[in-house]
Amino acid sequence: MIPTNQKHKTTILVTGGAGYIGSNAVLALERKGYKVVILDNLVYGHRDIVTTVLQAKLWVGDINDRSLLAKLFKTYNIAAVIHFAAYAYVGESVTNPEKYYRNNVVGTINLLDAMLTAGVKNFVFSSTCATYGIPKTMPIAETHPQNPINAYGTSKLTVEKILHDYNQAYDLKSVIFRYFNAAGADPTGILGEDHIPETHLIPLVLLTALGRRDYIKIFGTDYPTADGTCVRDYIHVSDLADAHILGLEYLLQGGNTATFNLGNGHGFSVKEVIETVQLVTGIKIPRLEAPRRPGDPPILVGSSRLVKKILDWQPQYSDLSQIITHAWNWHQKRHQNTHKNKIEEFVTS
Ligand code: UFG
Repeated sequence: MIPTNQKHKTTILVTGGAGYIGSNAVLALERKGYKVVILDNLVYGHRDIVTTVLQAKLWVGDINDRSLLAKLFKTYNIAAVIHFAAYAYVGESVTNPEKYYRNNVVGTINLLDAMLTAGVKNFVFSSTCATYGIPKTMPIAETHPQNPINAYGTSKLTVEKILHDYNQAYDLKSVIFRYFNAAGADPTGILGEDHIPETHLIPLVLLTALGRRDYIKIFGTDYPTADGTCVRDYIHVSDLADAHILGLEYLLQGGNTATFNLGNGHGFSVKEVIETVQLVTGIKIPRLEAPRRPGDPPILVGSSRLVKKILDWQPQYSDLSQIITHAWNWHQKRHQNTHKNKIEEFVTS
């Protein structure tokens, strides 16, 4: 454990800290007494979340702006970087891979360069279960072969490889987290998920419950699963955030480069998610059966045994109805006065 009085002196740079997972991680860091500087280009992040909920200093800028990065590292005595900033629309990564490689790979190299110049050697990286591709065994362990089927997954896997090489060559230490499906909201209701455009299942079902969409489309009902719909491992965003603090402290205490899955170990089908939303909200959700969405593996469930063992990570909210309850509380508040109009459908592929 890092003593609390030392945390107050420790400044952490969080890229993408105005986004969904990033902002929840900043909140967790601040609750633990860390000072935080956020770098976010606000393409998908929300300025209002940083200014109203978080204490962190916000630098609006891009990880591909090398002079801005140099200035930032000169301004603060940064102990570690937690790197969330990335594009993460899987379908778009297939049609526009250049955007994904430029931002997710080149941008990360720029960030790592600036870190090395400043002598900062601790890095927590957001990777993804999309690096595994179509899984051969379930639950997926960290040792499972990585064969991504889209440019988003390849961009994250490329950075994972870079981080191993930088560890060897430059002694830059990383904790790499491969997330399964981040979901839910801070239990106090002050922070949650608000993507524009929104493509994720749980927020879309909740927007349907709120009457902002007419129905939820179920992408594929002929998968080899119990009810024919895709199965995913939903992990509470606050549990993800806590894992980042553990990963950070592991590095600050001299830990070696390591890779961990972050999931719940339980799978829920699209239909089960919709049923659970109905139970939580008491609202019937209109649904439309639609063709499969290209690139969706039938089942993705992760094993998180390693992170529990090495980092002593104990997820607090593994129950799906609790995850959805927190998301529902947030969505009701967030959409009470904003986004009055029906939300247009976003074509993901
Ligand atoms: N789904 C629907 N209808 C919708 C939206 C989603 O049926 O309107 C289905 C999808 O087909 C999928 C499941 O709900 O089977 C979950 O979809 P999400 O879009 O919520 O999440 P994904 O599993 O596609 O994506 C997540 C992360 C990505 C990561 C990917 C790895 O959000 O960052 O897992 O496969 F890359």
